[in-house]
Amino acid sequence: MKKFAIILAAGQGTRMKSDLPKVLHKLADKPMVSHVLDNFKKLSLDETFVVVGFGSDKVIEALPEDVRYVEQLEQNGTGHAVGMVRPLLGTVEGMTIVAYGDMPLITAESLQKLMDFHEESASTATVLTGIATNPFGYGRIIRENGEVTKIVEQKDATDDEKAVTEVNTGIYVFDNRKMFMALSQLKTDNAQGELYLTDVVEILKNAGDKVSAYTLENFDESLGINDRVQLAQAEKTLRARINLTHMLNGVSLINPETTYIGADVVIGTDTVIEGNVTIKGKTTIGRKCLITNGSRIENSMIHGRVTINNSTVEGSTMELDSNCGPYAHLRPGTVLHEDVHIGNFVEVKASSLGRGTKAGHLTYLGNTVVGEKVNFGAGTITANFDGKNKFQTEIEDFAFIGSNSTIIAPVHIGRNAVTAGGSTITKNVADDSVAIARGRQVDKIGLAKKMPHYRGE
Ligand code: UD1
Ligand code: CA
Repeated sequence: MKKFAIILAAGQGTRMKSDLPKVLHKLADKPMVSHVLDNFKKLSLDETFVVVGFGSDKVIEALPEDVRYVEQLEQNGTGHAVGMVRPLLGTVEGMTIVAYGDMPLITAESLQKLMDFHEESASTATVLTGIATNPFGYGRIIRENGEVTKIVEQKDATDDEKAVTEVNTGIYVFDNRKMFMALSQLKTDNAQGELYLTDVVEILKNAGDKVSAYTLENFDESLGINDRVQLAQAEKTLRARINLTHMLNGVSLINPETTYIGADVVIGTDTVIEGNVTIKGKTTIGRKCLITNGSRIENSMIHGRVTINNSTVEGSTMELDSNCGPYAHLRPGTVLHEDVHIGNFVEVKASSLGRGTKAGHLTYLGNTVVGEKVNFGAGTITANFDGKNKFQTEIEDFAFIGSNSTIIAPVHIGRNAVTAGGSTITKNVADDSVAIARGRQVDKIGLAKKMPHYRGE
């Protein structure tokens, strides 16, 4: 049987009080709707449709290419939203799972169980329900003799109905064609004057179709995000889940409550991550690394046995056995090859450093290509910017850069070349030569005695 999904993401999310459409607010470093779509991707469906409306341009941009979208120009309710897909899907035979884009905590496992239950019970409609300790705001599941007869929204419910704690999570599986047939019978005679998707249940039941409910084991998964309090709640749950997965996969988190790992981060076994660490974006970390307290890593490729000590690493590659910090900053375009050491207060940008090169202290390297086993003395600076253009520096293997060298690009420093401490290098330095570019020292014998501060005896 063909299987489809429809995800509703057209609402503004008024209670978020934001210019950003609700489904684009991020959780664990990823838009809410992407979490939902990633879970649906695991279900091997034939096609997924997203209904967009408020801020559609931005929402469409966030959608993966294999997902189709449909616009709902006016938000006249969840039933109206699903109806937007009719021209593409209305007459197709199959089953359709409908979900809301503001439910990022629902797991693929739960969705799969719901679909399996729907198929095995040969139902026309199956509602995913949950038992809420506080059902306020949810649609209530109304049963007669144990069978689901309808869903009543909070605003339309009688006092008896409000007392029901079994609620509509907002996820359903339908026989596709029967769903669209029922949708065309929806009416707006309700408290919100909208076309409710939930009314499809009653319509099908009255037509003699089989309507079932499948109850979610863990109600926390059904959290719908309507405001920023729920956003923070969901963030906490997601983060805990992500951290748990990494720990079970063999990563040590010293204080997981304070470790923020994005949903798309990959980490190898036997890596140790201390507290107060943030790892975001498309980042991969190899095996046996150590990431200490206070580090922040974004969109980077970290190979095995790397140490990142209280440092910021963005858009960079660190190869086997390289290390940085404390207080280093690797900016986008940095590549540290094997065994490179970047030490205290060193900033590197758009530069590659060859195997075994060391810049231990107080250094800035920008737009620089460095060979192997180069040593940078403390306080080396590549002056790569003239206020308008960026220039390149090249430093060949085994060069020895004296402390406090200022290297004014564009310039080339040869193999085994040395720059004397305190030099300002403006011209190319040949292989095997020593460049000294600083004022000569002059000693004025006895002059100290005439200085105002002089206290000598
Ligand atoms: C809905 C359900 C309710 C359920 C609850 C679970 C209905 C009528 N009610 O209520 O039974 O318990 O979810 O969280 O379905 N949307 C559109 N177009 C529209 C209206 C909404 O795309 O015209 C989208 C929204 O972007 C949102 C989703 O549908 O992602 C749900 O809408 P929302 O207004 O949050 O519904 P609830 O009042 O929470
Ligand atoms: Ca909602």
